Amino acid sequence: MAEKPWGGTFDEPTDPRVEAFTESISFDRRLAPHDVAGSVAHAQMLAKVGLVTDDECRRIVEGLQQIGREIDEGRFEFHVELEDIHMHVERALIDRIGEVGRKLHTARSRNDQVSTDLRLWVRASIDELDRRLVELQRAFLGRCEADAGCILPGYTHLQRAQPVLAAHYWLAYCEKFERDRGRLADARRRANVLSLGAAALAGTSLPIDREDVAQRLGFDGVTENSLDTSSDRDFALEFAFAMTMIAEHLSTWADEWILWSTAEFGLLKLPQAFCTGSSIMPQKINPDVLELVRGKTARVVGNLQSLLVLVKGLPLAYNRDLQEDKLPLFDSFDTVAACLAVAAPLVAAAELDRRRIAEGLDQGYLDATTLMEHLIGRGIAQRTAHGLVGRLVAKARKQGVPLAGLTLADFQEADPSLDESVHQVLGAEGAVRAMQSRGSTGPDRVREQIARWKQRLS
Ligand code: ARG
Repeated sequence: MAEKPWGGTFDEPTDPRVEAFTESISFDRRLAPHDVAGSVAHAQMLAKVGLVTDDECRRIVEGLQQIGREIDEGRFEFHVELEDIHMHVERALIDRIGEVGRKLHTARSRNDQVSTDLRLWVRASIDELDRRLVELQRAFLGRCEADAGCILPGYTHLQRAQPVLAAHYWLAYCEKFERDRGRLADARRRANVLSLGAAALAGTSLPIDREDVAQRLGFDGVTENSLDTSSDRDFALEFAFAMTMIAEHLSTWADEWILWSTAEFGLLKLPQAFCTGSSIMPQKINPDVLELVRGKTARVVGNLQSLLVLVKGLPLAYNRDLQEDKLPLFDSFDTVAACLAVAAPLVAAAELDRRRIAEGLDQGYLDATTLMEHLIGRGIAQRTAHGLVGRLVAKARKQGVPLAGLTLADFQEADPSLDESVHQVLGAEGAVRAMQSRGSTGPDRVREQIARWKQRLS
């Protein structure tokens, strides 16, 4: 039976059922590299302020590094009696270097330690997701050239609305994922401060140097109130929210592509390498990857919900409830990272069915709005122009023709000033070409967007 660090005041050993119930080593072992790094920096600071000697520090650091390697290489044994990663590392150190190892926990509590470990993990995980988001953005940007000139139907209410360049679609996703990157960067700023030194909740009477530890661990600063530090998981929740937004964006994209790849929409051909078949229907090629990206979003949303409920109403400072923060947080990261890893190559490999798209573009009166704006340009009030075009659409619909299929006489009946130039804004191409506002789907505007993204992602 492993001796507990709190053994002094206890007469009874811990019930094994309690050990099994309270352990976190089964999941917090993934914090090991951060726990070791935090302990190394802490030991070095203890030496700097004279709480351990340089020689003691050297032995502690060497011991920690060796333990870190063993864990990394899978040569380390974990035991539930030792509860969590912090106690495992410390106990292994004491087993190896003896009495000196018992000094490592000077001026430190597991409360500021776990907070520090988690901040280091959040920071590294944010950086990892950021890299994956950039890869996904690059995949979308790469499509812009491949799909140059391709016009897609744009939808509102999932009804055909106005034509847009395919590149405009792809860059819409670049914008969404850029905001996600911004949220990650913002969360990173608040995560990247040092908790160590808050100790259990009140700080310490020992002469530690928190700034020194912060610097060693690459933190931008130190937290300012030990009570707050010990209870604070805002940084974890912010990260969970940022990940939830990524999942939401991925889910929108996945859902859109599932629709687009149906026979009914027929806009997109998914690569077979990213599809799966049916065990009973021999002809099926299913978009399961996209469905799972959409489906896994539910887990990520649930994890955020769990974290929000977890911290609700907790009194200051540390409460053991907080141990439950790791599972949802880790799961969201693993899920979102996996979705991003499969999304980027899928985005790059899918193909638009350009022939079928082009054939369908004169359905749905996608050019009605630019025709209306053409009338506005000739001095007609918007409400009036809207009504006139509405009637032209009704007439065309009755005849079963697109707007461009109406005669000049039809147009002049709507407004006598109209002439052949009306055809410039008709048809999907005319309508797209007519667009000019900043951020619009006009070809020049989209070229500007592409140039900006190329620069940003280079
Ligand atoms: N395993 C714990 C956690 O993850 C570490 C902190 C334990 N602190 C304590 N006072 N029991 O939160």
